Amino acid sequence: MRAAIYKSYGPPDVLQIVDLPKPTPKENEVLIKLHATTVTSGDARLRAFNLPPGFNLIGKFIFGAKAPRNQVLGTELSGVIEAVGQGVTKFKPGDEVIAFSDAKMGCYVEFKTFPETGAIVHKPKSLSHEQSAAICFGGTTALSFLRRANIKPGDRILINGASGGVGTAAIQLAKHFKAEITAVCSSPNHALVQSLGADHVIDYRTTKITELPDQFDIILDCIGSLNQQNTRSILHPKGRLLLIVVSFRDLLAAPLQSMGSGKKVIAAPVVTKPEDIQFLAELADQGEFTPVIDQTFPLDQIAAAHALVDSGRKIGNVIITF
Ligand SMILES: NC(=O)c1ccc[n+]([C@@H]2O[C@H](COP(=O)([O-])OP(=O)(O)OC[C@H]3O[C@@H](n4cnc5c(N)ncnc54)[C@H](OP(=O)(O)O)[C@@H]3O)[C@@H](O)[C@H]2O)c1
Repeated sequence: MRAAIYKSYGPPDVLQIVDLPKPTPKENEVLIKLHATTVTSGDARLRAFNLPPGFNLIGKFIFGAKAPRNQVLGTELSGVIEAVGQGVTKFKPGDEVIAFSDAKMGCYVEFKTFPETGAIVHKPKSLSHEQSAAICFGGTTALSFLRRANIKPGDRILINGASGGVGTAAIQLAKHFKAEITAVCSSPNHALVQSLGADHVIDYRTTKITELPDQFDIILDCIGSLNQQNTRSILHPKGRLLLIVVSFRDLLAAPLQSMGSGKKVIAAPVVTKPEDIQFLAELADQGEFTPVIDQTFPLDQIAAAHALVDSGRKIGNVIITF
């Protein structure tokens, strides 16, 4: 089967297309024929080994010091079950599914085995494989942080980096939770974020968000430019600051920063449960969550797809088709 691999950390052209053996499902696994996967900001970070400050040492330990231990990137997929192991009861050949391998990665392949008890659910009927492939990375990140912030109807939320993979999912989920949304992105993306549910829009290039006269119940920072200090005046005294991109130091400091203040800083990494994927898939079928697609590339143009993600300007998601 065809696959994209990388044998060393570096720019997009470290990716190469190779032939790998087609896997066989074990007793409790399914074999999925992929229709689509994505290139996420996480994939691009790992390919370049460009981790947030302070994570290099632990990152080398986990992902490989001199070269990547796992040569196949890709965290999410949409496809069709081709075969199932003898013990599989939830799925059958022909079922359309989405799955999230998260940090285990391995989705830049034509065929992938997946445990039936993992983060795998039936694909939403109303979405294409391309849209469905992009449900999990942005969706589970946004959902996990919004739930930890106890988002509730009427909450005023500011989403910084609203036009990216996580931001476009966060707008739609915050809308589902009936929050009042202020989306921060450059003005060419304002119409898009409004169409997703943003009530107010701000261009970070012309307005300093840390000096806004407003106060927010929740601030979700998908960029890494906000912290407890510079959001002091715009976060409600009982507000929650959600930091998706943090240095190792800020990650450790977050619980301490919450002490002695009504404000809460939440920075812990995302832990995804299969129920979260099911929730997102159902929301998609109800028409409340549709992953935004920037561009779609065939597998053999995966380096170009990574270059687009490296630009830091992608809108929503970048898709790879097989
Ligand atoms: N903690 C976790 O578990 C976790 C999980 C997922 C992702 N992440 C991290 O979260 C970050 C966001 O991920 P993503 O996938 O959403 O990224 P992304 O899709 O690559 O973000 C691209 C978007 O960022 C916007 N942008 C760039 N600079 C900006 C600025 N200064 N202010 C506001 N918007 C800006 C761009 O819009 P404009 O062109 O309009 O500027 C573009 O649409 C990444 O660093 C990723 O590594 C962390």
